[in-house]
Amino acid sequence: MSVIHDPELERLLTALHTKSNEQVAAMRSYDAQRAKGAHSPTEDEVKVFRSDKLVALDRDKAEFCYQLCRASNARRIVEAGTSYGVSTLYLAAAVRDNVHAAGGNGVVIGTEYEPKKASAARAHFEEAGLSCFIDLREGDLRETLRQIDGPVDFMLVDIWIAMARPALELVTAHLRLGGIVVCDNTERHRSEYADYFAFLEHPANGFRTMTLPFDGGLELSVRCQPR
Ligand SMILES: C[S@@+](CC[C@H](N)C(=O)[O-])C[C@H]1O[C@@H](n2cnc3c(N)ncnc32)[C@H](O)[C@@H]1O
Repeated sequence: MSVIHDPELERLLTALHTKSNEQVAAMRSYDAQRAKGAHSPTEDEVKVFRSDKLVALDRDKAEFCYQLCRASNARRIVEAGTSYGVSTLYLAAAVRDNVHAAGGNGVVIGTEYEPKKASAARAHFEEAGLSCFIDLREGDLRETLRQIDGPVDFMLVDIWIAMARPALELVTAHLRLGGIVVCDNTERHRSEYADYFAFLEHPANGFRTMTLPFDGGLELSVRCQPR
């Protein structure tokens, strides 16, 4: 039993993680070929290749996010990068469980620009009975995350790396003091995240950050008073 304690949701998550893991080998070899320069696809070709890939957040990282959201009683969560909705399901389960435990309400704002992924994600949210806790915004996050009403307790950055900083920049102004930002793979792709770290480390933005030893590194940043 994982931290989720919801057998039907667990079954759906297991099926989605299995499918995602099966696609990882194909993605790694595609990326290795690109890195070697053996195959130089255009940006559009890369987008087409990735368009049916789940690229789901690893289960242990997603469970860790669930725990952080429960511990902080998170009610407004932003997720940059929804894909087929795997991490969204963990975050929405945390909001649902916070609401059941202490009343009130809450929402996960997700965003995804691939229409097929967004529609598959919606079907998964329905199947899990979690749609009422999710506001999935279809389109480019540089537009969809412009409007955020109210303080954000938790943000997950699980997006193509070039979009990590734009997403964080849009949400930072809404993050409450003590708000948490988690970002995937920051150790594996440290140099590609240079602009993201520059934003995190700028004293005016008030973040304190550390890289946790999950596979590839998981960045845990907390919004504090700016220095
Ligand atoms: C790593 S995947 C997200 C996986 C998801 N968090 C999960 O655990 O299932 C990143 C997703 O971000 C989407 N994406 C990339 N750039 C985007 C942008 N500018 N606006 C919205 N979505 C974007 C991609 O289509 C992809 O599905």
